[in-house]
Amino acid sequence: MNVLVIGRGGREHALAWKLKQDGHEVFVAPGNLNMDGMTCVPIEETDVVALVRFAETEQIDWTIVGPESALMAGVVDVFAANGHRIFGPAKAAALLEGSKAFAKEVMREANIPTAGYETFNDKDEALAYIEAQGAPLVVKADGLAAGKGVTVAFTLEEARAAIIDIFTTDKFGAQSRVVIEEFLEGEEFSLMAFVSGEHVIPMITSQDHKRAFDGDAGPNTGGMGAYSPMPHLKEAVYKEAVERVLFPLAKTMVERGTPFEGFLYAGLILTEDGPKVIEFNARFGDPETEVILPNLASPLLDVIEAVVAKEPYPIEWRDEYTIGIVVAAAGYPGQAVSGQVLSGFDQLPDDVLVFHAGTTRDMNRVIGNGGRLFVITSTKPTLLEAKRTAYAALETLELPETFYRTDIAGRALARIF
Ligand code: AMP
Ligand code: GLY
Repeated sequence: MNVLVIGRGGREHALAWKLKQDGHEVFVAPGNLNMDGMTCVPIEETDVVALVRFAETEQIDWTIVGPESALMAGVVDVFAANGHRIFGPAKAAALLEGSKAFAKEVMREANIPTAGYETFNDKDEALAYIEAQGAPLVVKADGLAAGKGVTVAFTLEEARAAIIDIFTTDKFGAQSRVVIEEFLEGEEFSLMAFVSGEHVIPMITSQDHKRAFDGDAGPNTGGMGAYSPMPHLKEAVYKEAVERVLFPLAKTMVERGTPFEGFLYAGLILTEDGPKVIEFNARFGDPETEVILPNLASPLLDVIEAVVAKEPYPIEWRDEYTIGIVVAAAGYPGQAVSGQVLSGFDQLPDDVLVFHAGTTRDMNRVIGNGGRLFVITSTKPTLLEAKRTAYAALETLELPETFYRTDIAGRALARIF
């Protein structure tokens, strides 16, 4: 089949890689020049009209959406209205990610375990609330902020500063609204699923590492590395998350008249009272995709076609572990260096994969283009082997003005041994 992947990051590279493995002809818009074997199409993710036109002229059989920006631009609504098969939520359902206040309202309705919260449109009311509440608490700008709109405030001072920032700058959009949440303590993990209406096919678990530096130090980022599945997560916790979070969410979205179709991502914290939701994303996670897809033994489009047809599907996963380490440009998540020459990719061993994100190409050279540059993954029978293989390969590369965490999967390995 002809498949179009919308996006340009590591997640989209992994989706394209999997589709190619499954034997499809893969186009990526706009893609990245380092995505070997894929046809890159110079169309922006949010240029909905050009994307539909491309799908028509190239006779694309399926389109898979990566980033939230394309979803919020209404790409799914427009493709569906034109009779093109596309996997992703309509704009009304993508609001689950686009608005934290909307997500909270749906969770309340579906009785999904999550942090207690209040929403404020007024700065002074928000400030008065935190004085009464006391620290620690979590301050979140409503709307898309690429993971940068969240402040985990351990002191009232920090909480106050975050609220003032949200209401007095236009970083987070003109209509400022803030969600203030109870602080939850526990291990974070991600659970994703293929969803169509009430039909849900859960994936295996994964764990991202959101802080920039080793030991979970430094600022929050889009994610610095991940592994899948989590060897230390109990089956009962997984089942509880599927039954108390994924299924009720899918059902409530249908009941509200905004059925969800696409990849659903639940960010969870395993508290003493069981798993609780910290966020929903209306798309595949990044870097979670890069560590989940290498473990998926079933062809991706078979799973998608089954879920959309509301048919049961015996999804198969390899009995292996995948680890993915993100290499970021120095300065990320702030002002990041770009233009550095990254080399050594041609000599990498066969048992690692590289998924490109913030890189570009100049003749035969891979050049850094800011932010998260690429993810290197390895899939092995044990997590320890996967980790050793990925880090050993990483050390053979020349990566000036970059950094990566050296402790991806460290917590899981410490638990096993
Ligand atoms: P979010 O953008 O909502 O995923 O939040 C970014 C990060 O902030 C999460 O990955 C958590 O580490 C942290 N966080 C968000 N909400 C909470 C909460 N209620 N309690 C503790 N930590 C949180
Ligand atoms: N890795 C977290 C996210 O994709 O939002």
